[in-house]
Amino acid sequence: MQHRRATYDDVPALECLMEAAICDLMRDFLTAEQIAASFAIMGLDTRLIDDGTYFVIEAEGRLAGCGGWSRRATLFGGDHSDGRNDELLDPARQAARIRAMYTHPDFVRMGVGRTILARCEGEAASHGFRRLELAATMAGIPLYRACGYSEVEHFLAETPSGVRVPLARMTKLLTGEPGDPEPLIAPTDRTR
Ligand SMILES: CC(C)(COP(=O)(O)OP(=O)(O)OC[C@H]1O[C@@H](n2cnc3c(N)ncnc32)[C@H](O)[C@@H]1OP(=O)(O)O)[C@@H](O)C(=O)NCCC(=O)NCCS
Repeated sequence: MQHRRATYDDVPALECLMEAAICDLMRDFLTAEQIAASFAIMGLDTRLIDDGTYFVIEAEGRLAGCGGWSRRATLFGGDHSDGRNDELLDPARQAARIRAMYTHPDFVRMGVGRTILARCEGEAASHGFRRLELAATMAGIPLYRACGYSEVEHFLAETPSGVRVPLARMTKLLTGEPGDPEPLIAPTDRTR
């Protein structure tokens, strides 16, 4: 398996991967109604591609998974979701975000999520962040717990359909020494 930064050329495959992950991998955790409603608060955030902080893992010539980190305030959601906030976070005072982690159903439990998280944590640390925060789906909680994150609070996300979807705010302190930061790609014109 190889990982690299996501580009706009990946977008069609990323959208397919996310749909498969949401439909297949959340069944053990949510009702059908909650899964349908989840599309409003999940999905691709192209701001992360612009920022150069979104990654894909490839295996067997296909996308096996994706995920990223962010130095912006938005905690969860895709391009289409309400409540987005592009404000830059202060590494000295605030937690970087872990965002939009998905593994294709054909590649689950092979370490895809763990690998992407490790890369995100390393990059966030190298940019001076000492803490990470995320909004976990019920399907995501086992991965984050296994990787050292702890639950701060459980809450219900409102969706336009009126169905409320359970999420958990989770956090992790970064302990290692910060490395040398790779320069982040400057935000570009977001038109494709
Ligand atoms: C959450 C998700 C990204 C996990 O991806 P993954 O690549 O299968 O995770 P990994 O293989 O790296 O798992 C690492 C560890 O996390 C834990 N874990 C992951 N998925 C688990 C599950 N379904 N049940 C129990 N433990 C799980 C295990 O401890 C696992 O280690 P192990 O396989 O050696 O026991 C994937 O299930 C997914 O895409 N879910 C649907 C979308 C979603 O909810 N994303 C999270 C958004 S916050």
